[in-house]
Amino acid sequence: MKKAELKVAVLGAGAIAGQHFDAIRRTDGFVACAVADIQQERAQAIADTYGIAAYSDYQELIRQERPDVVVIALPHFLHRETAIFAAEHGCHLMLEKPMALNVAECDDIMEAASKADIRILIGHTQHYMAENIHAKRIIESGELGEIVMINDVRHLNYYQDTRPQWFLEKDKSGGGILANLGTHSIDKIQWLMDSSVRKVSAKVSHHGKRGNVEGSGIIYMELASGLPASIAQSGYPGATRNETEIIGTLGMLKLVTGVSLWISRGGAYEQVDVPPMDTPFELQYKDLLSAIEAKSETSCPPEYARGVIAALEAVYRSAETGVEQFL
Ligand SMILES: NC(=O)c1ccc[n+]([C@@H]2O[C@H](COP(=O)([O-])OP(=O)(O)OC[C@H]3O[C@@H](n4cnc5c(N)ncnc54)[C@H](O)[C@@H]3O)[C@@H](O)[C@H]2O)c1
Repeated sequence: MKKAELKVAVLGAGAIAGQHFDAIRRTDGFVACAVADIQQERAQAIADTYGIAAYSDYQELIRQERPDVVVIALPHFLHRETAIFAAEHGCHLMLEKPMALNVAECDDIMEAASKADIRILIGHTQHYMAENIHAKRIIESGELGEIVMINDVRHLNYYQDTRPQWFLEKDKSGGGILANLGTHSIDKIQWLMDSSVRKVSAKVSHHGKRGNVEGSGIIYMELASGLPASIAQSGYPGATRNETEIIGTLGMLKLVTGVSLWISRGGAYEQVDVPPMDTPFELQYKDLLSAIEAKSETSCPPEYARGVIAALEAVYRSAETGVEQFL
């Protein structure tokens, strides 16, 4: 017998919405019912593609459609408000990263979720990417010996004309390249090593041609396990790069997330054969569905994602004060 399908509504018809709809369509147990966007024509275009209802007011969508699951793919300053509204209407949540603007907002979301007894998966996609999962297995196998450091580098032109303005306004985004992409790196390092950030020092720069957020940053951090790690990100014009090196006493990994994985056992890097998997978004939906069915936590719960925001806040405090911060 076919499983009963849970109705899913997506708030936000922007850049990432299509990946959510494609994954919902491919996940047995979920069916898309509606989309909301204040830009009505965006909502309508998605509604026409997927044969669902379009709304411009997300509250009206939730009241009318009574979805089982709400996907929040909205600017960061709307995550708290929409997550609480959806939770109060009994909807489970697929909440895009970063969880919210700050730790206080994360706490508000967690309180509403706990009262409503709903499941939440925060969209930290790094946990669901084939190369990352394979790298974590190699680290855990001990093949690299003891891991002594991780260095993560990410550069891309953050100020491309197509970037929506809200990303570049601190009160709407929570920060610049570090809030948007740095949270992916913080998350990746914590998750790969199964240990949370304990200490950070950071320096940032503000030379963007638009907005008021940082355009680059360097972070030195230590995990609770004692492992040191660095994150360097530039959003100014230059060559695009996205590489994480995991260095052990017996060898090293070069992880090009979403693209490839390389290993050195003392010589040049050799490419690792990574078995193909479902897309990260499909894996996220399967994870959320299992948690709903089992009434258990998802494997990326709000408590974890709150820790990423706490680390980001510490990064900005350190950059402002010039003083190392402890979590
Ligand atoms: N997991 C990933 O790898 C990944 C990748 C990209 C984006 N994201 C995250 O997804 C979220 C959305 O990012 P995006 O790139 O799609 O942004 P976007 O700006 O392209 O889309 C946001 C949409 O929200 C709409 N919107 C704004 N206010 C609204 C309101 N009050 N009600 C309804 N709609 C409203 C906008 O009109 C826009 O269409 C962010 O949290 C972002 O960090 C995650």
